Amino acid sequence: MKLEGVIYCGDNLEWMRQFPDEFVDFIYIDPPFFSNKYYEVIFNDGAEVRSFEDRWKGGIEHYIGWMRERVFEMHRILKRTGSFYLHCDWHAEHHLRLMTDDLFGASNFKNAIVWQRFTFHADAKRFGNVNDTILFYTKSNKYTFHRQYRPYKERYIKSHFKYVDADGRKYRLDNLNPPAGRGPVYEFHGVTRPWRFTKEKMLEIERQGRIYVSPGGIPQIKRYLDETKGQAVHTIWDDIPPINPRAKERLGYPTQKPEALLERIIKASSKEGDLVFDPFCGCGTTLVVAHRLRRRWLGIDVAPTACKLMKWRLAKAGARPVEIIGIAYEREELKKLTPIEFQNWAIGIMSGTASDRKTADMGIDGYSFMERDPIQVKQQESIGRPEIDKFETAIRRARKQKGYVVAFGFTKGAYDEVARVKRKNDLEIELLTVRELVEKYGK
Ligand SMILES: C[S@@+](CC[C@H](N)C(=O)[O-])C[C@H]1O[C@@H](n2cnc3c(N)ncnc32)[C@H](O)[C@@H]1O
Repeated sequence: MKLEGVIYCGDNLEWMRQFPDEFVDFIYIDPPFFSNKYYEVIFNDGAEVRSFEDRWKGGIEHYIGWMRERVFEMHRILKRTGSFYLHCDWHAEHHLRLMTDDLFGASNFKNAIVWQRFTFHADAKRFGNVNDTILFYTKSNKYTFHRQYRPYKERYIKSHFKYVDADGRKYRLDNLNPPAGRGPVYEFHGVTRPWRFTKEKMLEIERQGRIYVSPGGIPQIKRYLDETKGQAVHTIWDDIPPINPRAKERLGYPTQKPEALLERIIKASSKEGDLVFDPFCGCGTTLVVAHRLRRRWLGIDVAPTACKLMKWRLAKAGARPVEIIGIAYEREELKKLTPIEFQNWAIGIMSGTASDRKTADMGIDGYSFMERDPIQVKQQESIGRPEIDKFETAIRRARKQKGYVVAFGFTKGAYDEVARVKRKNDLEIELLTVRELVEKYGK
């Protein structure tokens, strides 16, 4: 199974259950929120609508249960040194946090980041909800973390970097106290006490013109604005605006997240070469940013439209090759085909040949490539024991020992019958769901 450079199309629970343990370094999820129903159906694909209906069968408990089984898998596949970010909003944030505390362990909770996405929100008779929350967990206490910085706000620069050198450089004055009060003791500008630097280093700093002695005789160090990394990022993120209608990165889907947001998160919690995973990847923001930051990536989305859009976006960003697995499994579209079109599609994917009408009437729709074993194609949700029995007769009539049945699904009775036929008559019938067919035979 390919585990990088791939977008899996389908329900992430089904795909993740096939993934091995502890192989990804970083996970970010931006799942459908427990909020306005219509807003949550983005791509309007049949698969997404079904996933949406699945989540909405019950209230919040149902939604949390739906999320829990997925987060359980994410926790399983995350490396012990990995980090996990869950993006949510006020509707379910508190429920989700209890669930993630339970799965990751409360001691592995790191932050609840407040991302201010609006400057204004009209909420009648209460304070405007202007933020999302991003819950940050690690799997253990051994993990990657790179502190992130943001430019100082103008107000801060004005109040702190008040001084200007002869060459126009803005600076602030900082004390020369040693950390925790312990440092080398010597006399400097007539003051004998512990200092932050050794005497040699202090003299060097002075030669560079970076020491200022106040009228009261206290030496201080100049910290230049153009040399600072900026302000260390804390848990309130009010410097990343949502995607505006004219933004270059905008693809037109309401839940698309800004690349700057993902860039900060991915840079903080991963290294070049790490494997970044997003199982609700939508327009592919996480994957595109991961690619740009030289991380490996892996994504899942249930909506074929989203997968195709991501493939295009990743290719545009220079990622090669970008593979989608499961895309041909567009159930709703396949269901809309006429029975003959559906048969042709299924037999074509197996590189088989369709029967002429006469043999088709005898329960065989086509023959496999090379061995020419019978194929029966049923455009039905569920095929049971009686159909398998009839097909067994058709295989025998064709004097063959093997046959294939393709359908959207099979009952347990059908599988039992296949086992019985094998045991009793040594005749092999392979049952292929549409999904298995696509996985086995390709595009
Ligand atoms: C909020 S959007 C993600 C947006 C994304 N962060 C971006 O920047 O474009 C949620 C995505 O989850 C997908 N989704 C919903 N249910 C799913 C499921 N069971 N498995 C995989 N993806 C699912 C939807 O199709 C949608 O694209």
